[in-house]
Amino acid sequence: MNPLMLDAEPLFNQTKPVIVALDFDDAETTLQFVRRLNPDLCQLKIGKELFTASGRRLAEQLINQGYRLFLDLKYHDIPNTVASACKVAAQMGVWMVDMHASGGQRMMEAAAEAISQFHQRPLLIGVTVLTSMTEQDLADIFGASVSVPQQVMRLASLAHQSGLDGVVCSAQEAVMLRQHLPQDFLLVTPGIRLNIASNHDDQRRIMTPKAALAAGSSYLVMGRPITQAEDPITLLNQINRGEI
Ligand code: C5P
Repeated sequence: MNPLMLDAEPLFNQTKPVIVALDFDDAETTLQFVRRLNPDLCQLKIGKELFTASGRRLAEQLINQGYRLFLDLKYHDIPNTVASACKVAAQMGVWMVDMHASGGQRMMEAAAEAISQFHQRPLLIGVTVLTSMTEQDLADIFGASVSVPQQVMRLASLAHQSGLDGVVCSAQEAVMLRQHLPQDFLLVTPGIRLNIASNHDDQRRIMTPKAALAAGSSYLVMGRPITQAEDPITLLNQINRGEI
C-alpha cells in the first residue's frame, strides 16, 4: 500500500497535532509571527538557531503565553550532561525535548530518570536517523553497510527500551514503526506539505497532514507551510478537523 494514498482515520485522536517550527533567527520576528497563532490550535518548536539567538527568555515567554513548547536541541553528550540539560528543560516548563538516540541506552535512561520526579515532566523524544543522511553516510560512520530503515528501527526500539516517549521520524517510516512499537509510542514527523504536487522546498519524503496522521504520526512538525501561510489560523483549524 502506498502510504501517500492512506485516507483512513488517524490512529491518534489528537485535537491539535501540529507543532509549528519557529525557524526564525530573532525573538522579535518570532513574537510577531506567534501573535497570529493561538495556543488552543497548535504547539510550538524552538530549534538550535532561534535558541542560540534568543535562548531561555524567549522560550519562557512562549510558555507563559500558554503554548506547549518543544525544545528541539537534539542533545548528544555523556549521560550526566544530557540528564542535567533535560532537568533544566523540565524546570523551564518545556513540554517536549529531544536527544540523539545514537547517544545510547545509558544516556537516554539517565535523561528519563532525571525528569521522572517532576509533576509535569517533558516528553522525551529520540532522534533516529537525520533525514539528511544517506546509506553512504551510515557506512562512513559505522564501517558496515546498514539501510536507513534498519537503523531507524534499531534506534527507535532502543529509545523505547530506554524509557523515551517517542521518536522523530519521517511519516513514511511511521508505517513501519507502528507495526513494531506500542501504539502509545509517539511518532513526531516533519516533512509535511499541504499539497504533495506543489513546491516541496528542500524536503524530499513528504506527506499531507491527513495522510501522515493516518500513517501513524502522533504529531506533525510544520514550518514553512504554516509560517508562510496567508492565514495560519484557518489552516490549523482545517488540519485539526482532519480536512486536509
Ligand atoms: O519548513 P518545514 O516544514 O520543512 O520545517 C520542518 C522543520 O522540521 C524544521 O524545523 C526542520 O529543522 C525540522 N526537521 C526536519 N527533518 C528532520 C528533523 C527536523 O525537517 N528529520
